[in-house]
Amino acid sequence: MSITIRNIQKSFGQFKALKNINLEIGAGELVALLGPSGCGKTTLLRIIAGLETPDTGVILFHGENTTHMHVRDRHVGFVFQHYALFRHMTVFENIAFGLRVRPKETRPSDAEIRRKVHDLLNLVQLDWLADRYPAQLSGGQRQRIALARALAVEPKVLLLDEPFGALDAKVRKELRRWLRRLHDELHITSVFVTHDQEEALEVADRVVVLNEGQIEQIGTPDEVYDHPATPFVYQFLGDVNLFHGRVHEGQARIGDVQLELPGSPERRDSAVFYARPHEIDILREPDGQAAIAAQIIDIRALGATVRVELERQDDHGIVEVEMSRDQFNSKDLDRGESVYLQPKRLRVFAERNGEENLGSAA
Ligand SMILES: Nc1ncnc2c1ncn2[C@@H]1O[C@H](COP(=O)(O)OP(=O)(O)O)[C@@H](O)[C@H]1O
Ligand SMILES: [Mg+2]
Repeated sequence: MSITIRNIQKSFGQFKALKNINLEIGAGELVALLGPSGCGKTTLLRIIAGLETPDTGVILFHGENTTHMHVRDRHVGFVFQHYALFRHMTVFENIAFGLRVRPKETRPSDAEIRRKVHDLLNLVQLDWLADRYPAQLSGGQRQRIALARALAVEPKVLLLDEPFGALDAKVRKELRRWLRRLHDELHITSVFVTHDQEEALEVADRVVVLNEGQIEQIGTPDEVYDHPATPFVYQFLGDVNLFHGRVHEGQARIGDVQLELPGSPERRDSAVFYARPHEIDILREPDGQAAIAAQIIDIRALGATVRVELERQDDHGIVEVEMSRDQFNSKDLDRGESVYLQPKRLRVFAERNGEENLGSAA
């Protein structure tokens, strides 16, 4: 079922939690709402569910206005960060709950409920836990059971609010892959809230980046990562180095350093250039005026990549460079060495929205 979010605004007292949100979610899509804590993700999710009323705007389910639709009639399944399982019920009874409380006319028979619950337990690969109590499960198992319980009522829309937020990193990673596979199997229209960029990029078909109650960008994981629309998106989606300078005759000027910036504006007296750690080369020799002098202050191997931390000689701060272990080994770098930094790619953003330009400096 598709979801249309149109002109949604929501204030709490004077505080504007959501400022005119517009979003189309296609049937069967898995969309991530990504943004820092307090940006309005949960509020938007609760409005979609009908648990919160917007000040203005409408939510349409499959083109139908839900304004006067009761929560119960929206066919929405929920999974929250904090395990909302009933502690005094077994796993089986937790999943069966939503079916047992249906009005008599639509309530399945006991045999049907049993079959359904076991199907769901198989789906989340935890059939062997049917008779356990929530306290006897690991955090990851509880969240899978919570998902099975949400699916029991055959929701047309699945809303997940930081479902793996309380779990440790390794379990989170497993569960997000598992969720992706499950979604590929079931194709229920799903909205997944997270403040973790890696999680959003790995799980979702499309990512909606929110900041201070506004949408900064909507796009596929590749689009938002490779073509961030705003400095906020750029910085939120990964590590970044900032270089302050100006644009002159189509070149980026950072102190005395001059870098070609094809297609750039002719002139800007003050500009911020952005480069990710893997977009910067470390050179042993200066390349005319096209590299920034720096000293290596730390080197850290992280699995297959190596992170080099450098301090600019012009006292303009720390730069982080990332490269593969092979590249690192061939360069033979040591802590304390003086080297030169050359951005392979720099971005400049327009004052307002929109990526104005990206240029290759190498
Ligand atoms: N019921 C409420 N009353 C007052 N302020 C609220 C209420 N719910 C949320 N807020 C505020 O709205 C903002 C967005 O909250 P929320 O949607 O929970 O953000 P997120 O889920 O992105 O962390 C926060 O600043 C929060 O304090
Ligand atoms: Mg929240």
